[in-house]
Amino acid sequence: MGKKLKKIGVMTSGGDSPGMNAAIRSVVRACAYYRTECVGIYRGYQGMIEGDFVPMSARSVNNIIHKGGTILQSARSKDFRTKEGRKKAYDNLTEQGIEGLVVIGGDGSFTGGVVFNKEYNFPVIGIPGTIDNDIFGTSHTLGYDTALNTAMEAIDKIRDTASSHNRLFFVEVMGRDAGFIALNAGVGAGAEEILIPEEDLGLNRMLESLKKSRRSGKSSSIVVIAEGDKSGKNVYELADYVEQNMPEYEVRVSVLGHMQRGGSPTCFDRVLASRLGVKAVELLIDGKSNLMVGLENDKISTTNLEKAIKGQCEIDMELLRVSDIMTT
Ligand code: F6P
Repeated sequence: MGKKLKKIGVMTSGGDSPGMNAAIRSVVRACAYYRTECVGIYRGYQGMIEGDFVPMSARSVNNIIHKGGTILQSARSKDFRTKEGRKKAYDNLTEQGIEGLVVIGGDGSFTGGVVFNKEYNFPVIGIPGTIDNDIFGTSHTLGYDTALNTAMEAIDKIRDTASSHNRLFFVEVMGRDAGFIALNAGVGAGAEEILIPEEDLGLNRMLESLKKSRRSGKSSSIVVIAEGDKSGKNVYELADYVEQNMPEYEVRVSVLGHMQRGGSPTCFDRVLASRLGVKAVELLIDGKSNLMVGLENDKISTTNLEKAIKGQCEIDMELLRVSDIMTT
């Protein structure tokens, strides 16, 4: 271990995700283990600007590993996008004696960290926390596995009612720019069609596929659509379009929304959070900065923070092919 940092700050930022509490716990406990003080920063960068800090000991994170949300709360800070806001944040951190920062969040939060690091040479380590799984340099972001299972279980329930009424359901899942939840929950729940932002196959293809499955004897169907899909129609317009072209189907829409961001994290997310938190603290203590910790081939890895934001995370096209075969 290099020069010992006296105090580390930890915060959650951007959209919350299940497992953030487990990650806070891990950071705080790792700090206690290495005899480094730990300070929690409320509401992400906004709390940093407002000096909303709380000292954290190993005991302040008791009984949170299984809880959804984040005890430090989260925010998207407009003020941190300004030079004045960042100056205020820097002044508050130095006044507190905080010498390094662990940011748990997604690409927006990491962008803030990169800018802050460049401006003040302030050590920052990122832990990828978002249900969207759209961060380069990690096979899994924190909360993705939980959200995936939440979405899949919800689609399973919708299937029960879809088949009872011979209906076609459009289920919208989260994923502003990425189709990881839609593709994986869709395959896991046996959806007939999956629409994702990464691949626009066109509306005709969807109609053809639904007609084919109708001809093959299916009386109910489920189409899973990522909120950011590129068909040019929102989920309600898509449902109308299909109803007009296939009057034999009674169509319903279900938007799962923010329920996918809540709930108790899966074991996978809790273990991942524990591993990432420890590594983040060890990197800071080792004098490292501007890195994101992630999971690659089941090993904890590090990626340059800028690369994590800008790198292209590829969706598994093979899974799309499998999904196609499953609709036979
Ligand atoms: O956390 C990412 C995400 O779930 C996106 O998929 C979604 O578009 C967005 O958050 C919505 O978040 P909010 O309602 O907090 O703006």
